[in-house]
Order: sequence, then C-alpha cells, then structure tokens
Amino acid sequence: MKKITAAITGVGGWVPETVLDNEELSRMVDTTDEWIMTRIGVKQRHILKGEGLGTSYMGERAVRNLLEKTNTDPMDIDMVICATVTPDMFFPATANLICAKVGMMKAFGYDLIAACSSFLFALSTASQFIETGKYKKIVVIGADKMSSITDYTDRATCPIFGDGAGAVLLEPSEDGLGVLDFDLHSDGNGAQHLHMKAGGSAYPATHETVDKRWHYIYQEGQAVFKAAVSNMADVALAIMERNNLTADDIAYLVPHQANIRIIEATAKRMGLPEDKAMVNIQNYGNTTAGTLPLAMRDYESKLKKGDNLILATFGGGFTWGAAWVKWAYDGGAVAKK
Ligand SMILES: CC(C)(COP(=O)(O)OP(=O)(O)OC[C@H]1O[C@@H](n2cnc3c(N)ncnc32)[C@H](O)[C@@H]1OP(=O)(O)O)[C@@H](O)C(=O)NCCC(=O)NCCS
Repeated sequence: MKKITAAITGVGGWVPETVLDNEELSRMVDTTDEWIMTRIGVKQRHILKGEGLGTSYMGERAVRNLLEKTNTDPMDIDMVICATVTPDMFFPATANLICAKVGMMKAFGYDLIAACSSFLFALSTASQFIETGKYKKIVVIGADKMSSITDYTDRATCPIFGDGAGAVLLEPSEDGLGVLDFDLHSDGNGAQHLHMKAGGSAYPATHETVDKRWHYIYQEGQAVFKAAVSNMADVALAIMERNNLTADDIAYLVPHQANIRIIEATAKRMGLPEDKAMVNIQNYGNTTAGTLPLAMRDYESKLKKGDNLILATFGGGFTWGAAWVKWAYDGGAVAKK
C-alpha cells in the first residue's frame, strides 16, 4: 500500500479593507516611513474595524474563499483547526464559531496556540490525521486580529503587526505530495521576551492590568530578533539537510513575515536568492498565524505541482519550526481530486 501524505489542495485568504499605512502611523507615534521600511519592511497593514468583529469574522471569509476556489461542500469537511493567538473569546474555540458560520456542520474544530508558529504547528498536526487515514478533508486556518492586542502608543511594536486570515485544505495524496516532513520546537524560557501578560488565568482583567497596559503585546525587540534569526535559519537548514535537499531543489521559502531582515537572513543561510523567498510583509505586516497561508495564497499563481517549499517560522513562546511541503497543483488551478 502506498504511503498517504497530506496534500495542500487549495489556499484561500481574506484581509480587512481598512488600511493603516506608515504615513498615518507616523501621525500616531514618533516614527517615519523610512525607519519602518528599513528596520522592519512593512509599508501598510490591514485593520479589522467594526464592533464585535473578531478573528472568526476574518477566518470565516478566508474559509469561504478556500471552499469556493476548491469547489468544496462545507458539509464534506471532517475537521478544522484554527491557529490563532487572538481568539474571539477564550471559549468556545474560534474554529467552532467558524464551522457554524460557514456551515461545516459535520466537522469538529479546535484552536491551537503557538504564537507566530501557530499555523505551522496546526498544519503539522492536521497532516497526521490525514496520514493515518482517519480524515479526508481538513481545513487549517491561520487568523489573527493583532490590532486587538497592539499598543498604538508603543512605536517599537505597533508598526509590526496587522490583521488577516488564510486557510488551506488538506486532502490525502498517494503521489508523495504535501507535507513530507516537519521539525517543531519550543522553549518556554523565551516567554519573558515576548508575551501578553494579562487576560489569562494568571492576571485576569482588572482596572490595574488595564492601567499597566498588560493586555498588549510586550516585546523585547532585540532579544526576539537575535533568537529569530538564528533559530529560523537553523531549523530551515536542518530540514533541508535531513531530506537531502539543496538550495537548487527549493522553489520557495515560505517564511513567517515578522521582519524583512529576518526573512533575508534566513534565505541567505539557506543559500537561496532573494526572489526565492515569499515576501508580502510590506502589504500586511505580521499577521501572526495568518502569514504563511497568506503568503502561499499570494504566490499561488507562480507555484507548480511538485515544487518543493520550505515553510519556516519563529515566534512567541519561543516557538519555531520548519516543514517541507511538495506543492500539489499548478498555479491557480484546483488540485485534481
Ligand atoms: C522591533 C525591531 C524592529 C526594533 O529594531 P531594532 O533595530 O532592534 O531597534 P532597537 O530596539 O535596538 O531600537 C533602536 C532605536 O530605534 C528606536 N525605535 C524603536 N522603534 C522605532 C520606530 N518605530 N521609529 C523610530 N525609532 C524607533 C528605539 O527607541 C531606539 O532608539 P534609541 O537608540 O534612542 O534608544 C526589531 O528588534 C525586531 O524586528 N525584532 C523582532 C521582532 C519580531 O520579529 N517580532 C515578532 C515575533 S515573531
């Protein structure tokens, strides 16, 4: 019997209409377009506005886009994982809310939190349910409303983040396509450098936690930058080496979009020319769990069946990892079922 692998048979996405560009941000905090473009590489980010609209609102739209593109009936979906650090609520899970909104009523869903590595961890997890033969159609969503936890008085963090959602469909392949390997890591000692302190069980919301601005992202930029540059490149190289892949074998690096300098350093360590790294950070900023699926969506038309992709992430936790994915279809075409 041939080995079953989890092929990505479609990718969808959605970002909110409202755009916050560097000019406008420069009027909110003491910064400039030049500083942000040089140090981070973000030109604009999309912001979800509207009372009561949370991550599920964006996830729903990304999944509708995915199901439409792949001609998939929502009732055929077996399972949904929503990768996010900004769930609508603690419970129920955002995945459940999206299932109900989209009509994926036969699917069970849950959320997975691993900060900026959430989507990669969720994709790897979902791939196992396909490989065992247990499920046939799984939707993996990466969605975050980062504007809900970003402090727009802190110039060191607010230029980085934006809102957005992406989603992929996973289906069984017997042709060796899809998620072929992954290498995931986490180190809780990194929590001190990047976290959101309050709102969880340790520090539930009080007037004091709000006054201390503990419901926003806390980030020690340089410590995170150093760890990101070395770990993301190390893990991307490790997965290439153990699968005997050279730079020539790689069609694209699909990197987490946190900082253009981290992306360029990772591509360089892998021996890839710059145009082999998917880059859309200038348009969306860091959408946390949204970055990888949105990158694959934006580059979908350039991809060919059999292309080797290396997905690589680094984020809060610390969490980091890489995956080797063999792309399952040509350009914008829907994968043959
Ligand atoms: C946040 C980050 C862009 C800051 O860049 P940096 O080169 O490390 O800058 P530093 O923090 O050393 O700050 C250098 C100076 O720029 C200033 N600065 C910070 N943000 C600024 C802004 N938006 N505009 C202008 N100046 C700014 C600092 O105040 C500091 O000034 P000082 O020297 O007078 O104290 C960078 O550290 C980074 O990208 N880190 C990783 C973040 C990341 O990837 N997060 C997501 C996790 S997945």
